[in-house]
Parts: sequence; structure tokens; C-alpha cells
Amino acid sequence: MVLPTAPSWNPSDTHFYWLERGALYKNNPHRTFAFVGFFNKGKTIASIDPEVLNQVAFSKGAWDRVPIVALAQNFPRECYNVGSGRMDTGYMRHKRIIAPVFTEDLYHRVWKETILVYDAIREAGNWEKQNTIVLPDLINEVTSFITLAVIAKVGFDVDVHTKEAEDADETMSLHRAFDVLSRNFIMKGVLPQWLFSLPIKSLQNIQKASDIITTTMRNKFSARRAASKRQVNRAEEKDIFGRLLAASDAETPSQALTDDEILSNTFLMLLAGHETGSKGLSITLGLLACHPEEQDSLYKLVQEVIPHDRVPAFEDFDALVPLRNALMEALRLYPVASLLFRQATEDTTLNIPGLPHPLAIEKGTIFTGDYISAGWDDSLWPSPYSYLPSRWTNGPLSADTMQFGLGIHTCLGRRFALYESVCFLAMFLKEWQVFPGEMRPGETLQGWRKRVLEDNVQLAVTLGPSSVPVRLERRRP
Ligand code: HEM
Repeated sequence: MVLPTAPSWNPSDTHFYWLERGALYKNNPHRTFAFVGFFNKGKTIASIDPEVLNQVAFSKGAWDRVPIVALAQNFPRECYNVGSGRMDTGYMRHKRIIAPVFTEDLYHRVWKETILVYDAIREAGNWEKQNTIVLPDLINEVTSFITLAVIAKVGFDVDVHTKEAEDADETMSLHRAFDVLSRNFIMKGVLPQWLFSLPIKSLQNIQKASDIITTTMRNKFSARRAASKRQVNRAEEKDIFGRLLAASDAETPSQALTDDEILSNTFLMLLAGHETGSKGLSITLGLLACHPEEQDSLYKLVQEVIPHDRVPAFEDFDALVPLRNALMEALRLYPVASLLFRQATEDTTLNIPGLPHPLAIEKGTIFTGDYISAGWDDSLWPSPYSYLPSRWTNGPLSADTMQFGLGIHTCLGRRFALYESVCFLAMFLKEWQVFPGEMRPGETLQGWRKRVLEDNVQLAVTLGPSSVPVRLERRRP
């Protein structure tokens, strides 16, 4: 093999990519290396070189998703969706119907719901009456709820934050059911079904959450189908689920999605849109807590753009773009969806910068595009450790940023996530000044950043610190 092999220990362990960030490809002229992988018990290649990543990410033939992804992302199990499908399991059919669902009108709805959900969380926590709030974990206590509630409403027209939802089932509220299922989606897909009938509380809870949501969704199917028979205007469909139903019904029977496929795609939105967004927001606020100068400049901007008691309007997005930059910079340091994971479906070649000939790739070879080290690479990002949202001011803004993936599987929810995040950050930073939670005696802000945000990172489905503890002080304009 002409490529350098992996240094030190086993890169099949995904956490390895975090621990070795910034160092892994140093002195590697190809910014690409080979190692023996776990999944295919054979050849695996990892790279941060944009040219190499693009060859794999834009391929519609030689490279495709690794089949194991379907185990974790299908719901029901046998039903592929846009997040699990491969070329040979209907990916293009799913994408053709799903991509057009993400419209400007949907983003207006995302914005509006983010405002309503933020109000609901303030009310539930009695925030208005408090000047200081200590949150042991921003992810668990705030941002997870925000992104869950927004995707549940915009995705399924389900209000997880109302009393009615709380009472949906006497033993588990709809909100909790969504939360439990979205956190355990993969376990539900991977473990054998019989395990969920064992008397193990945590597994029973996952099954219960799945049952409650499936029943809720099937009832919605019946209601929507009945409405469509009564000729209710399908153009009125506002949530992702209804839009998919209408778009699929307009297809020829061979191209249309089955009810289960629509369900599977709507659930995928829950999985794809909940934890990624929630971690992204918490990490951004955690970083702003240890960079008060950045936080202050964003606060000033927010006050200028949305003065007094005005809530942010959708049209304010462009003026609030520095908030988006703050998120993008956080996602550079912590790419919550951190690997481009593909497999060669046939014998092929890759052009690797610095190699005189295309590299021969055997069918079955696994490729990991390493977004973590790409974000910490000093040739791509000078002073990579520094949190500098202004890097993004004139930088690449749209689809060609790794933070939301590359190539044919680039995130369909990118603008959804950006509108949601900017709207939330505007409201949150206008009301609260964010400080690190519980600093140790003598600890500096950078010391806190290292201890809490860096040394405590977990990489399972998504990457991020296991918790982001903060203290909030009310802003006094
Ligand atoms: C900060 C938030 C988010 C981040 C960082 C993020 C990141 C990503 C990344 C890196 C991919 C590519 C995965 C791959 O190459 O295999 C992806 C795909 C995807 N994301 Fe997101 N995502 C976010 C939010 C969302 C939201 C809110 C939704 C939906 C409402 C969503 C829906 C999807 C879908 C459907 C795909 C699969 C696209 C395809 O294969 O064609 N994402 N996302």
C-alpha cells in the first residue's frame, strides 16, 4: 500500500478521531492514510483532503452508504428512508420526493415555532421571575427541548410542550415519548425485537415510546387520508409529514412512497434534526461563555437588530448572520455529525494528491471522511484552536461546508437548522448573559473550555461534550 498507515492505536474506534484531532494528518503529505478496519475486516481509508472527500461524497456509483446504517436508521426496520437508502435500495426515489418539502415556507414555520417553543420553556421554568439560573446541563435542560419541540411541530404537527401532550398517555407523555425514542433510535433499530419484551425497564420504556408515537402517527395518517378524501386542499399541508403524504400521493404508483416509508422518513427527520441541532446550540453557547468578547458583540448586534421587546422576525435573518457564524465556528470545532462514512460498491480508483497514479481501491473498502481533523487542520483553518466566528464572515456559507456534509448526501435540513439556531440564539442572548458553570478555584476560561468542552467529549451517533453546565445572568439593557 502506497499510503501512510495509521499512527498509534486503532482508528476503528470513532473516539480516536477526536483524541487525535489536528495531529493525525500532520506530516502526511496526502492528508490521507490507510488502516485495517473493523466493519469490513479489511481495508479502510481515512482522509481530510477536500479533493479526496469530494470524489467519494459526489459519487453516485462507486461509493455508497455502508449498509449497517440502515440497521440504525430505518423505522420501521424494513423501511428505508432518505437517511438510510442506498442507490440499490431506493435512495433517489426518496430524495426526489423529500428534497422539495424543504421550502421557504417551511423555514418561516421553523422560525415561528422556535419563538413559541422558547416562550413555552421560559414559562415552564418561570424564567421571567429569575435573574440568575444555574443549569447543570444546557443540552438536557434547554436546547434538547427546543430542537425536539420544533421538529415535532414542524415535522409532525405534534405539540410536545402542551398540557394535552403531557396527558397523552398516563404513564408517558408524548414529549417524553419523542425524547426517549429520538435518544434511543439506534438501539431500537439494532437490538432484536424480543429483547424489548424482557422485564428491563429501560428497554420497556423505549418500546413504550415507540408504541405511543407509532399509534399517534398512524392516527394522523387516517385523519389526513380522510381529509384528503373530503377534498381538503392538499396545498395547505404545512408539516413535513403532510407535505410528504401529499407529494407522494401526486406520484405515479411505482414511484410513490408507501405509508411506512413516509413514516420512516418523518422519523428520520426526528433523529437527524433533534440531537445535532441541540448539541450545536449548546456547544455554541458554551464557547460563547468562555469568549465573553464574542458574546458581547453578538449581544450588541441583537439589541440593534431587534430592539426593545420586539421578537425576531424571519426577515431579520440576514442582519443576524453573525449568530449563524458563531454556530458554524462551533460546528467547525465540534462537527456534531463528524464522519463521512462510505463503502466502495465496486473496484474503483481514487486520485490522491501527491501520489503519481490513481490509487486502486478494492470493492468493500470503507472510507471515512474525517470532519473533525479537517476542522482542526491548520492548513485549512489558521490558528484552528481559536474560536473565531468572524472566519465565516466572507467564508463559504452554503452547501460546500463540511459541517453539514458534502456531496449527494449533504444535509437536507441545513437551512432548517440555521433558521432555528439563529432565531433561538437571538432570543436567548438578548435575555441572558452566559457564564461557564462551576469553575474550579483558579481555573481560567480557557481551562474551563478544555476541561468541560474538550476533555469530556463523547462520540456515539453525534459528537459533543457529555454536558454543558452554564450559569445565566439576566441582561439589563
Ligand atoms: C446543526 C444541525 C445539523 C447538522 C450539523 C447536520 C449535519 C448533517 C450531515 C453532516 C449530514 C450528512 C451525513 C452523511 O454524509 O452521511 C446530514 C444529512 C442529513 N440531515 Fe442533517 N444536520 C443538522 C440538522 C438537520 C435537520 C434539522 C434536519 C431535518 C429537519 C436534517 C436532516 C438531514 C437529512 C434528511 C440528511 C440526509 C440527506 C441525504 O442523505 O440526502 N439535518 N446532516
